[in-house]
Amino acid sequence: MAIYAIWNNKGGVGKSYLTFQLASEYARQHPNKKVLVVDLCPQANSSSMLLGGMEDGEKHLNNIHGQQSRKTISGYIDDRIRSPYVPTNSGAGYITQVIQYNNKVPANVYLVVGDEKLELQSSRVSSATNPGPNDAWRIVHLWITDLISDIKRSWNDEDCCIFIDCNPSFSIYTELALTAAERLLIPFSADGSSKRAIKAVLSLVYGQRRQLGDTQSEFYLESNRYNMSLPEIYMYIGNRLTQMNNSSASAFKTVVNEISDEIYSVWQSSNTPFCIHPSGATRPTNKKSFKNMFQAEVNDANTASVVSGSLGIPIGILTAGQRRVAGVTITVNQSQLDRQVPNLRDLVERIE
Ligand SMILES: Nc1ncnc2c1ncn2[C@@H]1O[C@H](COP(=O)(O)OP(=O)(O)OP(=O)(O)O)[C@@H](O)[C@H]1O
Ligand SMILES: [Mg+2]
Repeated sequence: MAIYAIWNNKGGVGKSYLTFQLASEYARQHPNKKVLVVDLCPQANSSSMLLGGMEDGEKHLNNIHGQQSRKTISGYIDDRIRSPYVPTNSGAGYITQVIQYNNKVPANVYLVVGDEKLELQSSRVSSATNPGPNDAWRIVHLWITDLISDIKRSWNDEDCCIFIDCNPSFSIYTELALTAAERLLIPFSADGSSKRAIKAVLSLVYGQRRQLGDTQSEFYLESNRYNMSLPEIYMYIGNRLTQMNNSSASAFKTVVNEISDEIYSVWQSSNTPFCIHPSGATRPTNKKSFKNMFQAEVNDANTASVVSGSLGIPIGILTAGQRRVAGVTITVNQSQLDRQVPNLRDLVERIE
């Protein structure tokens, strides 16, 4: 059982898309294991895809958000705003079995639905960290840990796998997600700003100074002060990589290689925690074995990805042919599927 946060400080790198695909594929590969997605992004994009996509998923989301007592992440956060320092043991009341809304997703996928109200709640969450008991910061940062413990208890502590989709901003709810997570999956895209974002992750979460004298994040300092564990880096995922034509492929490769070198230098020169995997594996001793353990690549599947996300059909079970999306007929080609489906399958096989 492991808890993965999918986070990069950069927006639009595929966090939500990958959350949807990885959770669905993991559930397909492990039909006897429960898979939980906690959507901690107020945009609720992964919830929308899981619940059926652009039309059905959005309709379901609106219904769920319209109910008096919201069975969403915000419903739980409301409980905790009322009882900040005493666990409410109410987390299990906020899970939704995804197949009740979308029969394209395996029956063993569960979701704590995302909610735009999270944005409104964030200042109340922050103010709960101070004043309060001496260790208010610590207790509030354990809210999502508590939520997950409640859910696991209701599942009799069965083996399960948990994915937390995060907002790009380093907001209070992202901090709570990172405290709850044991492992970090960091998607990035092949561009210069991704290189910068990777440094931002290292500085915000692990206190790495980019320049001598740089101040460290309160999250890093307080986590240390309270001896709270930080997630370990599990994998960097180069996402939306393109193989469309030779020149763009080589441009992409150059950028990916540069980012790759950057990550490798972090491994060599700092004490940032990386999660050696699979369990029992030995520490990588060179760049190649490092890359094999900590890097993955997911190609751009073009129209197939659009159809998968828009209709809430995990790409692993999407077939070639014509589909109606928002009243328009779109063709999914086998070649598009072949570009991405094997990447996701291999990637999930590397997730414990
Ligand atoms: N491998 C891929 N192939 C094709 N399209 C992709 C792929 N990954 C992501 N996308 C598309 O890229 C867009 C951005 O992805 P997504 O919303 O998942 O990013 P994000 O990191 O969650 O963004 P945000 O920071 O706003 O939360 C979406 O339209 C998504 O469908
Ligand atoms: Mg997102």
